[in-house]
Amino acid sequence: MSKPIPIAVVGSGYVGLVAAVCFAEMGHPVICVDNDQQKVTALQEGDTLIHEHHLPELLGRYRNDRVRFTTDLAEATRESDAIFIAVGTPQSETGDADLSYVEAVACEIARSLTSYKVIVEKSTVPVYTNEWISRALERNGVERHLFDVVSNPEFLREGTAVVDFLHPDRIVVGADNERAAAILRDIYAPLTSGEYYQREDGISGCCSVSEPPPLLLTSTKSAEIIKHASNAFLALKISFINAVSNLCEAADANVEQVARGMGLDTRIGPKFLRPGVGYGGSCFPKDVAAFRAVAEQMGIDFSLLTEVEKINAQQKKRFVSKVRSALWNLRGKKLAVLGLAFKGDTDDIRESPAIEIIRMLLNEGCSVAAFDPAAMERTQQVLPAGGKLRYAADAYEAAKDADALLILTDWAEFGELDLRRLNQLLRYSIIVDGRNLYDPAVLSDHGFTYVSVGRPAAHPIRETSTVAKA
Ligand code: UDX
Repeated sequence: MSKPIPIAVVGSGYVGLVAAVCFAEMGHPVICVDNDQQKVTALQEGDTLIHEHHLPELLGRYRNDRVRFTTDLAEATRESDAIFIAVGTPQSETGDADLSYVEAVACEIARSLTSYKVIVEKSTVPVYTNEWISRALERNGVERHLFDVVSNPEFLREGTAVVDFLHPDRIVVGADNERAAAILRDIYAPLTSGEYYQREDGISGCCSVSEPPPLLLTSTKSAEIIKHASNAFLALKISFINAVSNLCEAADANVEQVARGMGLDTRIGPKFLRPGVGYGGSCFPKDVAAFRAVAEQMGIDFSLLTEVEKINAQQKKRFVSKVRSALWNLRGKKLAVLGLAFKGDTDDIRESPAIEIIRMLLNEGCSVAAFDPAAMERTQQVLPAGGKLRYAADAYEAAKDADALLILTDWAEFGELDLRRLNQLLRYSIIVDGRNLYDPAVLSDHGFTYVSVGRPAAHPIRETSTVAKA
């Protein structure tokens, strides 16, 4: 039987909150600390604050019992053996990560640290951050034998974060001594021993008793680099397939076939080869920029990352050009836009390509009726309705009398629209799909002009259907 380890998690954002409830699910008593009293109260009352599968269920199970929420970091420090720092590391103007929140937490921990603790970097941080945290603790009077700093990066995707946490491909622990490594091993023992996967009420996923996740022990610096390098590599894969999709468009080839052909090579693999409108979200754009900044600071020429960012920015402009090509002029056009979130199954709009594309279209003089199943409330805070922008109650209301329908986020429901109904509602039967959710032949059969990414455009079988309807 694994033994419970008292844990503090500092920060109750995506990473902190998911880590806190998942550690509780693994059997550990957890104190989750946030300096935002409103957030703490909401969590105590059972409001998850974010749209994340399984989170309400786990919060309901452990709230105010095995997971306590507080603003008191001193108490959390005293009562735990391991303190996970999961606060934000936003992007600064130069691209590097702003570590001031991490520093503030380290200084506050220092004030109440009287017995040995392992301090764990869970936030995505550049290499050498562990050394800075150690220095901050020592400068604030903590003796060196009272703590170790380890790096335990997370690889959670929004929407599937709980499953990713409990069924990880790997657990990376960067620790420079055995004492600290042993505590992290104990914390993850319910997963690595397979014990968790025997539970009948456990969350299911791809790990099992016979195939538990491996724990990879590395140096602290290597673990810090693993996180940035993994995200940068995934972003590179997306930019690569987006560049290939542009080539396919020029050559009249089909990127879906190309990606399938590439992905069957086990050295390449099929994942993250979906072309689209570019990557967004709270991680990839920030992490690629931060990794580039780290390389620059160390005198390493990693201009490959600059190209990754360049292709990603171009992909959004290319989408707008496709809309222009489909409609001739953009000024005065009425567009239905489906999707605001940076990907499907989330209400997160941070660095969402959809928002940037809508801004470009409004600047071009289009009017936009937008719909998203979860992200409308958040979007209205940054793009309030008014002037040429309105929000629709559903996809069909957005489509009514529009000159074209644009798909910008890969929500499953956008791939299952009633095409006959859409065709009747749209002024012109034109769909520009930035996520390749449809088979071009099917849309052509339904009388649409269908423009997607990296595939030949499809035209209606009945030529008359792109002519304005009465
Ligand atoms: C990512 C990483 O996957 C995760 O390991 C890390 O911890 C946090 O960042 P997330 O931001 O939730 O997770 O989203 P992800 O599913 O990775 O997608 C990122 C972006 O890439 C989205 O905008 C998505 O639409 C886009 N994407 C993804 C593609 O355009 N094509 C793909 O093939 C995959």
